[in-house]
Amino acid sequence: MKPVPVLLDCDPGHDDAIALVMAHRSPAIDLLGVSIVCGNATLDRTTDNALRILEFIGAKDVRVAAGCLSPLARELVLGTADGPSGLEGSPYLPKPKTRLDPLHAVEFLAHHLRAAAEPVTLVATGPLTNIGFLLLKYPSLKSKIARIVLMGGAMYRRTEYITPTEFNIFCDPEAARIVINSGLDVTMVGLDVTMHVIVEEPQFAQLRKIDTPLGRVVLDWLKFYEKLHRGQMGVGGALHDPLALAAVIDPTLITTRDAHVAVDLTGTFTFGATVADFWNERQLGTNVHVASSVDSERFFNMLYALLRD
Ligand code: RIB
Ligand code: CA
Repeated sequence: MKPVPVLLDCDPGHDDAIALVMAHRSPAIDLLGVSIVCGNATLDRTTDNALRILEFIGAKDVRVAAGCLSPLARELVLGTADGPSGLEGSPYLPKPKTRLDPLHAVEFLAHHLRAAAEPVTLVATGPLTNIGFLLLKYPSLKSKIARIVLMGGAMYRRTEYITPTEFNIFCDPEAARIVINSGLDVTMVGLDVTMHVIVEEPQFAQLRKIDTPLGRVVLDWLKFYEKLHRGQMGVGGALHDPLALAAVIDPTLITTRDAHVAVDLTGTFTFGATVADFWNERQLGTNVHVASSVDSERFFNMLYALLRD
């Protein structure tokens, strides 16, 4: 099957790092480039992490461009799941030798969309600042975007593990609103499904069997990530971003429900929340395909296979 042309916008971040590994190693993905945004850490950290990760996994030829230093319309509130460096647990990753692309991420994304032979899938696993800016600045390039698959949002309240807001949307809700109201084909892979792909002892047991340099660094990332998640939420490490990327590799991993999704910009305790209208009570039709279930076992089997092969 022809690989899907993908531009990946991310804020590495442990789970972003694993999404990068999967995007690089999957034959189903043609990774055209990586753009970086602030979120899990400041832009200088997320950028440095991306370069280290790509170099370490043998993807130093993948071009990387740094993007926005802060959200479109508010101060940066940093994520708390990855430690100050944004990638705690792997201090031994060598300092990168690869140079950043000189373009700002928005220009970088626009350049690759213009140059693409066919419409490109944008995968976003961080706050949507770069993507929102791109759509504002270059609306004509929407014709070169096949679809947007983003990790973000939380619609249902099935378990106590789902907070009213999810970080990527909360961090830059104005950008999120631009993206979900863009008229493009948008799929939101939110906490409703990502909190069902959690790394705990059974998954660690499988990961320990992948005794390669790549397998070992992923294990180190997840040991830190799981420990911090457990301390914060009492559960293991949810593989949010890898699931969003996996849903591009194999769309059958998830099911979706169409809805009009709104981003709350005025709530006191719900600011940044995504509110889905599954019954079309607002009469605003659909703007998002909301991921509503996931085949967790097949997702983890895909992850192990991509790390092993
Ligand atoms: O809420 C989860 C999201 O926030 C993930 O993308 C994680 O990397 C953090 O950015
Ligand atoms: Ca992320």
